[in-house]
Amino acid sequence: MNAIEIKNLSKSFRGMYAVDHLCMTVPMGAIYGFIGENGSGKSTTMKLLCGHLVPDGGEIKLFGRDYTDPGVRVRVGALIENAGCFPGSSIYQNLMMQCINLGLENADEEIMRVLKIVRMEENANLKFKSCSLGMKQRVGIAMALLGNPALLILDEPINGLDTDGMRIMREILTDITKEYGCTVLISSHVLGELEKIATHYGIIRRGRIIMELSAEEMDSRAEVFTTVKAKDMDGAYRLLKNTYKDVRREGEDLRVYDVEDTESIASTLLRAGHEILEIKKNKIGLEEYYVELMSGKEDENND
Ligand SMILES: Nc1ncnc2c1ncn2[C@@H]1O[C@H](COP(=O)(O)OP(=O)(O)OP(=O)(O)O)[C@@H](O)[C@H]1O
Ligand SMILES: [Mg+2]
Repeated sequence: MNAIEIKNLSKSFRGMYAVDHLCMTVPMGAIYGFIGENGSGKSTTMKLLCGHLVPDGGEIKLFGRDYTDPGVRVRVGALIENAGCFPGSSIYQNLMMQCINLGLENADEEIMRVLKIVRMEENANLKFKSCSLGMKQRVGIAMALLGNPALLILDEPINGLDTDGMRIMREILTDITKEYGCTVLISSHVLGELEKIATHYGIIRRGRIIMELSAEEMDSRAEVFTTVKAKDMDGAYRLLKNTYKDVRREGEDLRVYDVEDTESIASTLLRAGHEILEIKKNKIGLEEYYVELMSGKEDENND
């Protein structure tokens, strides 16, 4: 069974499709990275999933049941746009109000449980307005975690965080999936960071999912290449181009694709008397993969 299954979901605003017959499958226990350029329909899809917007058409199933089923709705927690907290109230008071809204029993215990998950037990009495951006995002996640949801929908929870904030968020999200078996749907433009935690990816463009793949599939598609910096870049480029199948100049580097054996590349250069300044093995990351995919699609559309 999948946590989310969407078929042909559509939503238009003033006759323009924001979500256009979108199909998407999020397996149970996944951290599903939802990627796409500004205005591609990520937030709208998430709002539809949460019932904040009414779709024009299509089908949404959560845990195998229709998404409007009340038994299923209580299993969904979400952070979309902002935490919706009262700035003058403390973190504890905000969480308490949400517990009351949700009709939760043992509210005090539940608040302590979620504060522990987001590493904010010490900050319960801090006013929301005094929180840093990173803390506010964590309070938002704590709000979404109240009632122990099986699915967490997070719209850009890591954008704008510093390195430490990102690391804490990474740990929190990994904990949630590993310890609580929660499934996470997360959108972000910070691809390098998303890549460290996502188990699956869905790439959306103009309201449609254009590609869905697991992190393993992504890994196996990722091109391996060796970057070289030599003193005489022009000479080194000519030599390598004559020796290897796919050699490209990218910015300050030469890239030799599909060759992992850095030693053979180095000895080719050294035998010809080249001075090597740097040589290292690389793999295309999510960021480059995404950029290449998008530029390919652009060409297709312009044809
Ligand atoms: N309430 C609304 N009324 C009118 N148009 C809307 C509304 N909400 C979204 N749209 C439009 O729908 C499209 C998709 O917007 P959406 O916010 O879902 O994109 P997004 O992928 O979340 O973008 P971003 O990365 O900037 O957050 C955009 O063209 C946007 O202008
Ligand atoms: Mg958005």
